Amino acid sequence: MNKDFLTLLDLSSDEIEKLIERAAELKSGKDSSSCPLIGKSIGLLFDKTSTRTRISFQTGIYQLGAQSIYINKNELQLGRGESIEDTAKVLSRYLHGIVIRTYTHSSIEKLAANAEIPIVNGLTDLHHPCQALADMLTIKEKKGKLKDIRIAYIGDGNNVANSLLEAALLTGVDLVIACPKGYEPDKKIYDKVVAGGAKVQIVSDPAEAAKNADVLYTDVWISMGQEQEIEKRRNIFKKYQINKKLLSLAKPDAIVMHCLPAHRGEEITADVIDSEQSVVIDQAENRLHTQKALLEMLIK
Ligand code: CP
Ligand code: NVA
Repeated sequence: MNKDFLTLLDLSSDEIEKLIERAAELKSGKDSSSCPLIGKSIGLLFDKTSTRTRISFQTGIYQLGAQSIYINKNELQLGRGESIEDTAKVLSRYLHGIVIRTYTHSSIEKLAANAEIPIVNGLTDLHHPCQALADMLTIKEKKGKLKDIRIAYIGDGNNVANSLLEAALLTGVDLVIACPKGYEPDKKIYDKVVAGGAKVQIVSDPAEAAKNADVLYTDVWISMGQEQEIEKRRNIFKKYQINKKLLSLAKPDAIVMHCLPAHRGEEITADVIDSEQSVVIDQAENRLHTQKALLEMLIK
C-alpha cells in the first residue's frame, strides 16, 4: 500500500475492511502481546490544538512499543523559515513516521513528497481521515455493518464531511449531507466519489437528510482557523442543529455521532449529545484502536 495516509483514499476498500477488523481485535484485548513498533520513534507535528488526536496517537504509539515525540511547529526551525523540504529530509533520518496536524493540505503533500517515512494526516483544513476510520469502526460496532447504512451529516461541509464522502466510496455507507448553500464539501472530492459510484447526496434541508437515517452526524460550525467568522457562521448554520425534533425524523434506533469537540446549543443540543442514542465517547475511544491498526499497517 501507499506509505502515506494523507486522505482516506490512500487506502483501498479491502485495506479499510482489514484495518477495521484489526482495530476491533486490538480493542478486544485478545492480542495484547504484540509490540510491532518496538524501538521506533514517531513524530507528532502539531500546528493546531488537539485533545483526542494527540493523546490517542501518543498512547497508541506507546502501546505498540514505540516512542512518540510531540513537536510544536513553533519550536522547530520550520517556524523560523526552514523549508518543509529540508525538514522532511532531516526528520526522515531520525524518525519512522510523522503524524501531522496543520492548516493547508498542500503543505502535508509537500512534506510527504520529500519524506522517506510514512506521513499520517492528523487533520488539515481539507481532510480528517483518521476521524473517518474511527467513525467507520463505531458504525460497524453499533449497526453490525457499513454497507447501505444511511448517515445524515448536518452542518458544515468541512474536513470531516470531506473524509466521510471518501468513506462512502470505500465502505458503501450511504451519505446525505445537509448544508447551507456555499458551505458544501469540496467539489473535487464530491465529484471524484460520485464518479467512483459512492451513494452520496447534498441537500439544503436538514429534515430531508435526517428522514430515516441510521446515523445523525454533525461537527462544529466554526473549525480551527475560522475564528474570524464566528458571528457570521452562527447565523448561517442556525437551522443546521441536531436537536430532538430532527432526531425524531431518523429511525427510532438511530445513533448520534460527533467527532468532538462539541458546542452544546450550537450544532447539537445537550439533550441529544448526552442522550442514550449518542455514541460520541465510543467514537472518541475508537480513535485509539483504529490509529494503532493504521500505524501497524504503515510502519511495521
Ligand atoms: N476529533 C478530533 O480530532 O479531536 P481533537 O481536535 O481533540 O484531536
Ligand atoms: N472541523 C473541525 C474538526 C475538529 C476535530 C476543525 O477542523 O476544527
